[in-house]
Amino acid sequence: MLTSLEIKGAVAAVTTSALLLSGTFTAAGTYRAHRRAGSDARPPTASELVTGRGRSLFFRSCAHCHGQDADGGEDAPSLRKLQISGSHMTLVIRSGIKGEMPSFAKTYTEQDTAAIVAYLKTLN
Ligand code: HEC
Repeated sequence: MLTSLEIKGAVAAVTTSALLLSGTFTAAGTYRAHRRAGSDARPPTASELVTGRGRSLFFRSCAHCHGQDADGGEDAPSLRKLQISGSHMTLVIRSGIKGEMPSFAKTYTEQDTAAIVAYLKTLN
């Protein structure tokens, strides 16, 4: 038979080791999560931020016509490997094309438009 003191001692020992064990797992998990985030922890460059923003604007406003990958939709041409200049792209986006493509001059600021153009240039 165990005395009540021995039982208390045993319970305390079990509790302590369980706590230690879960502490170890938590620490390992945190370490691993940290490592994962840290594996490409390089902060994005300014131009990556701009093209990333351009890409999300593209998905929002252009992809339903020009395709998710800008490789052309049913009614709109591919925007990959465009032969036109950045300022021509800007003009098309801001003015639209009568009867074909809406104008985005009211939707997007010049900065937004520049971000979209920067994204389109990454597709070349
Ligand atoms: C309603 C569908 C539609 C939407 C939305 C649309 N486009 Fe277009 N876009 C067209 C069509 C159609 C053409 C081709 C017109 C032509 O060739 O006469 C075109 C042409 C273009 C061109 C010129 C391509 C070239 O080879 O000269 C660019 C650049 C362009 N779109 C970019 C965009 C961007 C960026 C967006 C989003 C901000 C967008 N378009 C949204 C339909 C669309």
